[in-house]
Amino acid sequence: MVARVVLKMGDPRLLETAKPVMAFATPELDDLVDDLMDTMLAEDGAGLAAPQIGIGLRVVVFGFESNARYPDAEPVPQTVLINPVIEPLSDEREAGWEGCLSVPGLRGVVSRHAHIRYRGLDERGRAIDREAHGFHARVVQHECDHLDGILYPQRMTDMRLFGFTDVLA
Ligand code: NI
Repeated sequence: MVARVVLKMGDPRLLETAKPVMAFATPELDDLVDDLMDTMLAEDGAGLAAPQIGIGLRVVVFGFESNARYPDAEPVPQTVLINPVIEPLSDEREAGWEGCLSVPGLRGVVSRHAHIRYRGLDERGRAIDREAHGFHARVVQHECDHLDGILYPQRMTDMRLFGFTDVLA
């Protein structure tokens, strides 16, 4: 399939609440997942959500062995996650740097749950049920926020920890 254009912050479609997927193992869903994967790889992203390519469905992809944008991050399993539900498993939170393909060139520190359980379905409708810590948990929370129209700057509490990647580095 093809790498698609990633919408940037300011596009109202990024602020909408995405709708649940009702039909699995369909050519349309396979095409969407392929496009998300191709776009994520082309942009060197750690994850991507369907609303970022203008599709208002509750579909996210994420995962990498290693990632140039996050050189210190541990590997995250390559995953297609549909209609996700996140449950924090402790009160612990961690502050960490995030970027977003819809907010190019910038980084910011965001507080996230350190330990979560996430559930959902893959593109065939098979159940996914995992626990995640650290960067894995952060990526899932970031991508799932896109499904509720939330971009990471909306989660920031200290705007001094927001800046251009090439200046921060
Ligand atoms: Ni993002």
